[in-house]
Amino acid sequence: SLSIRAYHEKVIDHYENPRNVGTLDKKSKTVGTGLVGAPACGDVMRLQIEVGDDGKIVDAKFKTFGCGSAIASSSLATEWIKGKSVGEAATIKNTHIAKELSLPPVKLHCSMLAEDAIKAAIKDYAVKQESLE
Ligand code: FES
Ligand code: FES
Repeated sequence: SLSIRAYHEKVIDHYENPRNVGTLDKKSKTVGTGLVGAPACGDVMRLQIEVGDDGKIVDAKFKTFGCGSAIASSSLATEWIKGKSVGEAATIKNTHIAKELSLPPVKLHCSMLAEDAIKAAIKDYAVKQESLE
């Protein structure tokens, strides 16, 4: 198995001090929830966004049941999307996350989980807004 030293210090920092761990009210109309799983390993990530009146993401929380790289990816993802518009957040790619964390190729699917979770949360939020019309 890979030594912990094989991992970039940013991964270790986000893994040891994950940002924005927690839960937002799933039932709130201003909250979008994304729940995704990685077929490759069975890890699961839940990422939630709270969107303000101006369409900006005012809060983001996650819970990840998975490996250190998945936890670090979701921690970084919540940091990046806070303050962004929903449209801007939707453009975040797993390759951006993997590059920032210097993930090795075998861990790329962990960052894909974060991209998928952001997109799923945005979709859930968007569906809720349609149902208000
Ligand atoms: Fe073991 Fe992801 S495969 S934690
Ligand atoms: Fe599967 Fe990281 S090993 S999400």
